[in-house]
Amino acid sequence: MRRLDVKIVLILFVTVALPLAISVYLVNRAVDTSLALGLNAKVVDQLEQGLEVHRGYITELKRGVELRFERLVDSHRLFETAIFDDRPQLEMAIAKLIEQDPSLISVRLTGPGTDPLEVSTSGSVDQVRTMAMNRAIPLGRFVHLQAVFGVDTAIFEAYNTAGESFTTYRALAEAPPDYLNNRFVWVYISLLGIIVAISMTIGILWTRRMARRIHRLAEATTLVAAGDLSVRVDPGSDDEVGRLVESFNGMVSELMTSRTRIGYLQKISAWQEMARRLAHEIKNPLTPIHLAAQQLRQKYPGGDEQFQRLLEQSTEIIEEEVVTLRRLTSDFSSFARLPEVRPEVVDLADFLTDCEASLSHLAVQDEIVLTFDLPTEPILVRFDRIMMKRVIDNLIRNGAEALKGVDADKPQISVYAVKSDDDKQPEVEIRIEDNGPGIQPDHHPSIFDPYFTTKSEGTGLGLAISKKIVLEHQGQIWVEETVGGGAAFVIVVPTAEADKEDNS
Ligand SMILES: Nc1ncnc2c1ncn2[C@@H]1O[C@H](COP(=O)(O)OP(=O)(O)O)[C@@H](O)[C@H]1O
Ligand SMILES: [Mg+2]
Repeated sequence: MRRLDVKIVLILFVTVALPLAISVYLVNRAVDTSLALGLNAKVVDQLEQGLEVHRGYITELKRGVELRFERLVDSHRLFETAIFDDRPQLEMAIAKLIEQDPSLISVRLTGPGTDPLEVSTSGSVDQVRTMAMNRAIPLGRFVHLQAVFGVDTAIFEAYNTAGESFTTYRALAEAPPDYLNNRFVWVYISLLGIIVAISMTIGILWTRRMARRIHRLAEATTLVAAGDLSVRVDPGSDDEVGRLVESFNGMVSELMTSRTRIGYLQKISAWQEMARRLAHEIKNPLTPIHLAAQQLRQKYPGGDEQFQRLLEQSTEIIEEEVVTLRRLTSDFSSFARLPEVRPEVVDLADFLTDCEASLSHLAVQDEIVLTFDLPTEPILVRFDRIMMKRVIDNLIRNGAEALKGVDADKPQISVYAVKSDDDKQPEVEIRIEDNGPGIQPDHHPSIFDPYFTTKSEGTGLGLAISKKIVLEHQGQIWVEETVGGGAAFVIVVPTAEADKEDNS
């Protein structure tokens, strides 16, 4: 378990356990008080008295039954008919007696050497508890009389219930003082414990999800601090943590962009320094070499024709190479002394129209169709007009040079400018596409490096200079492949509105 998880669990535990502990205490006290009110000797006495009343009532009932039995025994008619030993008459007489006394359920006479005689009530005998009374009597051949009386069961049930409650209650009242309270509170605590365990499990599972996201963010931060700017964290959902993650990702990618920008500019400035020295070292001896060659040719008095020709050829080569070296050193020193970018707010369409006017001659000369697709709405950008024009110039020149070697049916270079719809960071995108042979994939990483060229007469400085200028405009430049396989250079720069927002 991570430290954050442990903390969350502890917080959950404290927030749950504290009110519960208080509630257990309060319940304990409430139970104590109510038990003290309910469980006392007075109540026991009263319950016992109630039980006594029930018992008296039942004794009374029994006595009633005994009295009725006595009356039955004394019944004159029964006696008489028995003597006559008229069985059907006897039965009828007994049936009449039963009819007269609703509590009498059955009468049974038995004697030696004769069948027992039994008469029962014809009514229902539900809800009734029976009481049998027996008496030995001389009734002709019968010697024994049994009568069964019905008593209402409700009375007995009430008596039983009262008895049970009394026993239970007395046991409780006589139990050790804390017995009931402790039991009750323990049941309460166990139930609460189960509820707490369930809710804490749910809480922990839920907060762990959150904690895991924060943990991932923390890990990513450590990686970034260690210098890895390629990390990105999955925002998960669109809550506060999600937004935190998103802004973290944004910050890291911005950091990466600016680190690459700074890295590139540092590299370029090292190359500029080298170009400056190189230009300086090469340029100085060029004039003496040129002069010496000229002198050689002038001072030779002549005579040897073969030598004369050799001399002519050699000095010509020297002079040609000196011219090439001069051009190279001038390129080098112009690269070394690239002026600082001084941006001003310009309208993009305006700027591109300007470029079109001054660059169309390049296309005319090579029979290339050069089209500028200008933005219709005004887009304000912060451009150093001269420097940015140099970028467009370099890219179009490269396109034209790439198209020169191949026989495309219709050599074409197109320039587009579009404003991105992303309101967060308003940008413009300028694309310069050609339908030439494109750039070999293995050249992609190097084309923006100074001195990388595939041309015999190239310096390899055009794209390096262009990238430096674009980066100094807070923009980015990269190359893509067009559908037709040509090269598409993409420049993205913030608009002047985006600049204003950044500064505020
Ligand atoms: N539009 C293009 N089509 C094909 N290749 C290109 C294009 N633009 C640039 N390149 C490649 O990138 C290299 C570097 O270009 P650049 O820096 O302008 O130097 P240079 O033009 O002096 O060679 C070129 O030599 C060429 O190989
Ligand atoms: Mg070039």
